[in-house]
Amino acid sequence: MGISAKDSIFIRACRGMEVPRHPVWFMRQAGRYLPEYGRIKGNRNILEVQKDPEASSEITVLPVMELGVDAAILYSDIMVPVSASGFSVRIEENVGPVTDVQLDSVEQIGGFKDFKCESDAPYVIENIELTKAKLPDGLPLLGFSAAPFTMVSYLFEGKPSRTFDRCRKIIRDDPDLWKGSMDLASVMITSYLRSQLKAGVDAVQLFDSWAGFLSEEEYGENVLPYTKRIFAALPDNLVKIHFSSINSGLLERFAETGCNVLSVDHATDMRNVHERFGSRLAVQGNLDPEIARIGGKPMEKQVARILDSMDGVNGFVFNLGHGVPRDTDPDSLRTIVRAVKSRPA
Ligand code: CP3
Repeated sequence: MGISAKDSIFIRACRGMEVPRHPVWFMRQAGRYLPEYGRIKGNRNILEVQKDPEASSEITVLPVMELGVDAAILYSDIMVPVSASGFSVRIEENVGPVTDVQLDSVEQIGGFKDFKCESDAPYVIENIELTKAKLPDGLPLLGFSAAPFTMVSYLFEGKPSRTFDRCRKIIRDDPDLWKGSMDLASVMITSYLRSQLKAGVDAVQLFDSWAGFLSEEEYGENVLPYTKRIFAALPDNLVKIHFSSINSGLLERFAETGCNVLSVDHATDMRNVHERFGSRLAVQGNLDPEIARIGGKPMEKQVARILDSMDGVNGFVFNLGHGVPRDTDPDSLRTIVRAVKSRPA
């Protein structure tokens, strides 16, 4: 019998259990800053590479081998199930997902109700199975999905937004459309995550990247209940991570989602978050991605500051506050991994 992922320091830290040192991984660790990534990907876009499980699983494993991180995250994108449901999705360079859809009836996403990863996106299942076979024994694999708000925001807005005016307008003026859409997205996401679990992922992260742009009232009444329902529908003993960027104002609400781990952005003080939530939740974060991109002494200083502030804490996962920027030097990330690993918890 090999070592089991459930005994890994990543899973133990997520559960707040005692660990010899803090675990470390990076959001968007499987991406463009790695030269090997470009070689495997060639001139295909991410949605095309996704349909090549051999390539996708190779990319998933890459940062484990190249950087020595303590967890792998499935190489995929939050828009994969949306695209597999029949919507046209383009990922525009330096912009993000563009759908050209401005959802105005619940029927338009009626197909979400019957989404079945095994038949609609079988390559995701195959990616998970191949990845599990390629990963070192006991190295945990994270599955993920967008949370319902972040997912439907691309369908209501049609493209990335920083103000979410149309989402907020629908929340105010057409609650049935809002609730119907969030409901269907939640059904789909629950099914999608269950399929990932069945295929072998060891923990899941919900990306509600843009929820922090909402007011507490908008979030609490129109988003939180759906995210909560998804986490509640997954096994009790599963490690569930909640991520949002720009999140300091909504942390109390995010802590109510039913997650075990709260992933926080760089603007939030890690120790403070641990002091507020540490008795019930583990925390993940939160080096400024821009500082990781700059690297060198300024980065080493910030890494040390975060590690100092989390000295003696169980229930801490080192990560960035958001994804790895594309022009980050892989050596900078190696320096971070070394710093985290050389420090007893
Ligand atoms: O973390 C990982 O390494 C796993 C893979 C992963 C990707 N996207 C791969 C990807 C994950 C977890 C995501 C999630 C994702 N995608 C989110 C939530 C996390 C967050 O950053 O807030 C969001 C909002 C998206 C939407 C999206 N997809 C954006 C904003 C972009 C970048 C567009 C650009 O060119 O700047 C994508 C494309 C994408 N997803 C890339 C990767 C590696 C780059 C595109 C490519 O290499 O072709």
